[in-house]
Amino acid sequence: LRVSEIKEGDGADVLGRDLVVQGWVRTLRLQSSVTFIEINDGSCLSNMQCVLNSEAEGYDQVESGLVTTGASVWVQGVLVKSQGSKQKVELKIGKSDPSFPIQKKRASREFLRTKAHLRPRTNTFGAVARVRNALAYATHKFFQENGFVWISSPIITASDCEGAGEQFCVTTLIPSSQDTTDSPVDVIPKKNDRLIDWSQDFFGKPAFLTVSGQLNAETYATALSDVYTFGPTFRAENSNTSRHLAEFWMIEPELAFADLNDDMACASAYLQFVIKYILDNCKEDMEFFDTWISKGIIARLSDVADKDVVQITYTEAIDLLSGANKKFEFPVKWGCDLQSEHERYITEEAYNGCPVIIRDYPKDIKAFYMRQNDDGKTVAAMDMLVPGIGELIGGSQREERLEYLEARLDELKLNKDAYWWYLDLRRYGSVPHAGFGLGFERLVQFATGMDNIRDVIPFPRTPGSAEF
Ligand code: 4AD
Ligand code: MG
Repeated sequence: LRVSEIKEGDGADVLGRDLVVQGWVRTLRLQSSVTFIEINDGSCLSNMQCVLNSEAEGYDQVESGLVTTGASVWVQGVLVKSQGSKQKVELKIGKSDPSFPIQKKRASREFLRTKAHLRPRTNTFGAVARVRNALAYATHKFFQENGFVWISSPIITASDCEGAGEQFCVTTLIPSSQDTTDSPVDVIPKKNDRLIDWSQDFFGKPAFLTVSGQLNAETYATALSDVYTFGPTFRAENSNTSRHLAEFWMIEPELAFADLNDDMACASAYLQFVIKYILDNCKEDMEFFDTWISKGIIARLSDVADKDVVQITYTEAIDLLSGANKKFEFPVKWGCDLQSEHERYITEEAYNGCPVIIRDYPKDIKAFYMRQNDDGKTVAAMDMLVPGIGELIGGSQREERLEYLEARLDELKLNKDAYWWYLDLRRYGSVPHAGFGLGFERLVQFATGMDNIRDVIPFPRTPGSAEF
């Protein structure tokens, strides 16, 4: 039985029953006649206390010091309410070397990042993993219940959705002695071989890791109506911040027969749904975050789940920032991209900790596919900012008019031929459509109060770090 199941109904159903618990030793207390072992099985924060006396089968292993913090254990015994029982307990262990690096004292997050393979055995990382899982489940639940179809977008692609030049290149290396017409699969390098990139022959053109599944999602939205993707995306951004990863997961809904207002409504409803879901379903873990990670987070998230998301235009945001009684490192003027200090000011100070959507950005600071507004200067874009994080969501209504899209590609000197299939969507039965991308790790940060994005994904990929 898992400890979370035993806890349900205070163990009333299973009290007095003979059961097995399997997990890892968190702490161990040896006394003259009994030994207390706290076991965590990862199902929840609570440990199971196991009381062993010298008659227990396997007790010799305790005596000989094999049971230490970090050891795996299999324990069979009768569940009782308090200690002091005379029940038969049997114990089997997978011993842990005394060098086990995560001892009871609180280890720093930086240290734990160097132990990414063991950090899930701590309370914090266990709780993050469970809340992350619940957010993923709630994401699918929200979209499935609202009639969206999940589409898997490709990881390897030839297009650059954001046009920001942040793509990782896919290479296929073969030894120079090998003829490139052969399959590179069972090639063994010879002495003095150089490795040659074969990828262009493989795909017929340079290939990259996707920065966004949006363009692919648009193809399905213009056939199935509402769709969404949820998968890994990659950015070769050399930004060493607590908000950026080189590999992160993105949720990208795409709504057909929809405009920017529909898009913003969907983004707000989605955020409120998933936040409410974890408040209702991850109570123990959320209380842990409230106590140890970010005081008051439950109350703040409850507000987010209940209150409407504020919407302002980019122009209003610039006015707000220009009028702020505050000196920014990056000066503000119409046309500039908002820096994180600006985003934080807007959500944290001007709007008092509420999520804020900013819409209608200047077209020159946004991607080619966004729909031009009638003023000719702005596009129907929206970003949702949240306190503590900044940009959580980036989205837009897409340019569905072929002539506008072609003109924009020309203006930005992008190769129209490379987008032939994307332009086809405008040639054959184009419809107004809109969508957004939400960085899943930023959502996990927002929901848990964890301050570094490296601590909300199991194996963070950042500049200089791709171990494990
Ligand atoms: O604003 P972005 O670049 O938008 C797009 O990629 C659009 N194609 C999405 C769409 O409309 N379908 O990225 C979307 C979100 C950001 O708001 C941010 O939350 C997250 O992805 N994000 C990152 N998260 C972690 N590390 C990074 N390096 C990120 N870059 C973007
Ligand atoms: Mg963005």
